[in-house]
Amino acid sequence: MAFLHRAFLPLFLHVCLLNWSAWAKVELTMHESVEVYLGDSAQIPCQYSFTDANNEPSFVMIQWFVRAVGSSSRIRIFYGDNKNQQIVDNNTDYSGRIEVTSDQLGTQLNIKDVQLSDEREFFCQVNGLAAGSAEGKTHLRVFATPEPPVIEGVLTGISVTSEVPSKVASCEARNGFPKPNITWYRNNMPLMSTPGHVNVLILSTRESSGFYSVQSTLEYKVVKEDKDAQFSCEVSFFVPAAIRTVESSSVNITVHYPTTMVELWKESPQGLVKEGDMVELRCQGDGNPPPPFTFNREQELDVDLESRGDVLILSPVSRKDSGIYQCRPLDADGYTEVKGEMQLTVHYLDPAVVVPKESEVMLKGEDLAATCNALSSLKTSTVWYKDGQQVGKGNTLHLKDATYETTGEYVCEVTVPSLPALHTSGSVHIIVQGGPQLVGVEQEVQLEEAAGRMVNLSCEARGHPLPSITWNIIGSQNWQEVVSKASELVAHSVVSVKVTSDISALCNASNDMGTEVKVFSIKAIPRLTSTAPFSPAEGSGVIIVVIILCLLLLAILGSVLYFLHKKGKIPCGRSGKQEITKEKTTKDDIVVEMKTNTKNEEAVLLKAVNGDKKGPSEQ
Ligand SMILES: *[C@@H]1O[C@H](CO)[C@@H](O)[C@H](O)[C@H]1NC(C)=O
Ligand SMILES: *[C@@H]1O[C@H](CO)[C@@H](O)[C@H](O)[C@H]1NC(C)=O
Ligand SMILES: *[C@@H]1O[C@H](CO)[C@@H](O)[C@H](O)[C@H]1NC(C)=O
Ligand SMILES: *[C@@H]1O[C@H](CO)[C@@H](O)[C@H](O)[C@H]1NC(C)=O
Ligand SMILES: *[C@@H]1O[C@H](CO)[C@@H](O)[C@H](O)[C@H]1NC(C)=O
Repeated sequence: MAFLHRAFLPLFLHVCLLNWSAWAKVELTMHESVEVYLGDSAQIPCQYSFTDANNEPSFVMIQWFVRAVGSSSRIRIFYGDNKNQQIVDNNTDYSGRIEVTSDQLGTQLNIKDVQLSDEREFFCQVNGLAAGSAEGKTHLRVFATPEPPVIEGVLTGISVTSEVPSKVASCEARNGFPKPNITWYRNNMPLMSTPGHVNVLILSTRESSGFYSVQSTLEYKVVKEDKDAQFSCEVSFFVPAAIRTVESSSVNITVHYPTTMVELWKESPQGLVKEGDMVELRCQGDGNPPPPFTFNREQELDVDLESRGDVLILSPVSRKDSGIYQCRPLDADGYTEVKGEMQLTVHYLDPAVVVPKESEVMLKGEDLAATCNALSSLKTSTVWYKDGQQVGKGNTLHLKDATYETTGEYVCEVTVPSLPALHTSGSVHIIVQGGPQLVGVEQEVQLEEAAGRMVNLSCEARGHPLPSITWNIIGSQNWQEVVSKASELVAHSVVSVKVTSDISALCNASNDMGTEVKVFSIKAIPRLTSTAPFSPAEGSGVIIVVIILCLLLLAILGSVLYFLHKKGKIPCGRSGKQEITKEKTTKDDIVVEMKTNTKNEEAVLLKAVNGDKKGPSEQ
């Protein structure tokens, strides 16, 4: 159209020129189009001149028209002349929104606040009466930038097995003018419509406001690699004298693809598996979404093991669970055999078997080899203990030259160094049989003991069977056994013997295997002075009585001497007679007094000896 008009205009002018060839001609030029943003002001120039400059018309009329919407008719919007007449027509779309300016080159229509409806043709008509008239037109183009594009990826998973392209995303650019275009990108590379691979469905809408909204849907044949792809759309639109583009954000999609590879591994426990453990086998494939799996043992492929999703739990495991396990995805197509496989080994340690069993009797001096074996899937280590002390290493314990010390419980501990949780133990009770063996060094004991005392004689003998102890005591009838004890291996007997004279006591320990004898020889020592059965306190009493008697004798002797002295050497006076009688009385008094004194003295002494606090009156 634009091109047509451009060709038509000179033709039209040429026709005019032919018709008005006698007079000067009007020559008029206009831009084919003027481009302007919505809301801006538009300037549409209309240049004209007259071919015969010497014969310019005195009156020139200028009119602006606009093409009516939806018809071929025109509506005048402005009229003016070179006599200062300027009229904007009332009741048109442009009343109040236009003004026309003029200069030497021509006239110019100015439109304020350009609307979408201003996208139409504007005509400029110049009439110079005798110089004739000319007309030109300009297409006013209006542009509105659309809103940034909005992309929406498909949220559900898209399967690569779909036969036809699947909807991947949609993109919308709203309120643009003229109609914008939408281009799709995958990882920043444009996607061209390709039958069977890429379809782009476009839906454009003319809004009531006059804007265009364009919605584009991308249908795409998804492959597995698209799980990491970024999809975006770009809107392109015209602006004055250019094309501009705005890109959307990127979306990714969920791609569903079948499993092509499966792995099966032991999730727990870490390390070696032993009987009784809870074993967790996990199966994982490369498909999306992760498919359910079936688990089997290699030797029973037709038996599905009970599993929870991708996990197979075996609890508790035994050695019978050892073997090859497999898992298969349920989404795999029938053509390819996709499976995961692993070998499970369950280790074990059987109870220890000890030979000889339970208990064994050995003769003193004998040798014995005890063995301890526990069957295991792994290398074991055996250690022997007796009373908590290590006595041997290895499966066989050698007991050489048995003594009674050899007797006891032998425990073998079997461990698995590579799997410490596995361990067991066994035991054997060794009994050493033999004749009695007296405890203590001396076979013959010599003793000296005061006659009349009690003496304890002890005899202890070990042996198996347990020895019995008998006593044969010569020299005392007065004895009795006060202790008779027996432990597993040791018999102990104590006799309490009254020493009356020299004693020979024989302890006879005997069992089936023999007899041992221990001899006690006791020499009785007679007592020195202690014939009377007095206590030391009584003895001191006797001494005091002797002392008192001596004092009494001394007193009598003294008084006799005094009496003889008085009679023989000094004559007796009255006073003397009186004194004698007095003396006599005093003498009795003295005796009495002495008696009481001695009594007191005795009491004091007794007190000192006994440490007693009793008064003399209580004596
Ligand atoms: C346009 O309207 C105005 C007022 O409404 C009036 O004064 C004027 O004469 C009118 N012009 C034309 C050309 O009808
Ligand atoms: C895909 O989108 C999700 C959510 O927006 C995001 O978490 C994920 O990382 C994206 N994946 C890739 C490959 O970009
Ligand atoms: C939109 O696409 C059409 C057809 O391919 C093309 O003619 C037009 O120039 C494009 N518009 C833009 C703004 O790119
Ligand atoms: C002898 O042994 C008995 C019992 O053990 C004990 O009661 C007693 O006191 C002992 N006698 C002597 C003199 O040791
Ligand atoms: C010791 O006792 C045993 C059995 O009672 C007997 O055969 C043996 O002759 C006794 N020996 C002595 C020295 O008394």
